Amino acid sequence: MKYRYWRPISIDYITPGYFPDVALYMKVNGNFVMYKTPERKFTEDDRLRLERNFMEFLYIRAGDMMEINDYLENNLAEMLERKDISGIVKGRILYQTVVNYLIDVFERPELVSCQERYVNLIHLMLLHQYSSTAKERIESLRTVTGLNYYIFGHSVQVAALNLLMHENLFDMNLDGLTDVGIGSLFHDMGMALISDGVLDRPDALCGVEFHKLKQHTQQGYEFMQQLGVFSKSVLDIVRHHHERYDGSGYPTGAKGAAIPITAQATILCDVYNALTTDRYRSHRKRNGMTHEDALKLMREEARAGAYNTELFNQFEEIMNVILMQYEHA
Ligand SMILES: [Fe+2]
Ligand SMILES: [Fe+2]
Repeated sequence: MKYRYWRPISIDYITPGYFPDVALYMKVNGNFVMYKTPERKFTEDDRLRLERNFMEFLYIRAGDMMEINDYLENNLAEMLERKDISGIVKGRILYQTVVNYLIDVFERPELVSCQERYVNLIHLMLLHQYSSTAKERIESLRTVTGLNYYIFGHSVQVAALNLLMHENLFDMNLDGLTDVGIGSLFHDMGMALISDGVLDRPDALCGVEFHKLKQHTQQGYEFMQQLGVFSKSVLDIVRHHHERYDGSGYPTGAKGAAIPITAQATILCDVYNALTTDRYRSHRKRNGMTHEDALKLMREEARAGAYNTELFNQFEEIMNVILMQYEHA
């Protein structure tokens, strides 16, 4: 994870009139070729031209990426207020900025204790949730990607879903919701601590080296706990997001109400997102399940004891409402 000199960025993320002026590169036959100098503006015509040529990504030097992240993180609040940027584009910029933040943290786990950054991002995610339609949120969440690294987009999507769940199901104040956001963004943080070889696989979470992967819950928990800055509810999410209601999960095998309720909700968001997300394996795309199929499978699993059935029913209801809002928008 520490070798990447070039950072790929989706052209969806390069918003003319907002994105900082940096040199952009294209990858041509394995080489990086300059696409534009820092002085030349990236325009809507650039975007259309790239789209016509099926170019989804451009590249930035890792050093520039730090500047971009700083700029975007500091200006997101103002960007969300702008009238000349559509809700979908705002969502894309916001969620992709959170992904970029997570890439930083996974590369340098000690950054996880810099509270200001993640609290700011989570509050902006909540703000966007209140001020956008389900359609805008879903469409922008779909485009966020950690590129080959499934886990980053996944973490942001789980966080967005979990915030929505907690808002709807539990009477929670802003501090409580912020903790849900933190726990969700970092729920797979332990993956950064197990060997690079495992994490670098695009299919890291689907069964290969599963035994090793299972350690990410406890390892993430121990790492974050010893920093001494995270609340119990954050740590509960990180530690218990692979428990199962019947006690068949890991790392502790906790059962029923012994699994903190916030973690029980996270489990549902985590599984739903994993099932519905497209994965890439050896450059071959494997489509995620449809919303209906994922819920059907989860309903069967809930009946077999994997999840709290009452909570699952509420989850299903919320998901169906969102999908309905999406389809009728
Ligand atoms: Fe996990
Ligand atoms: Fe996960």
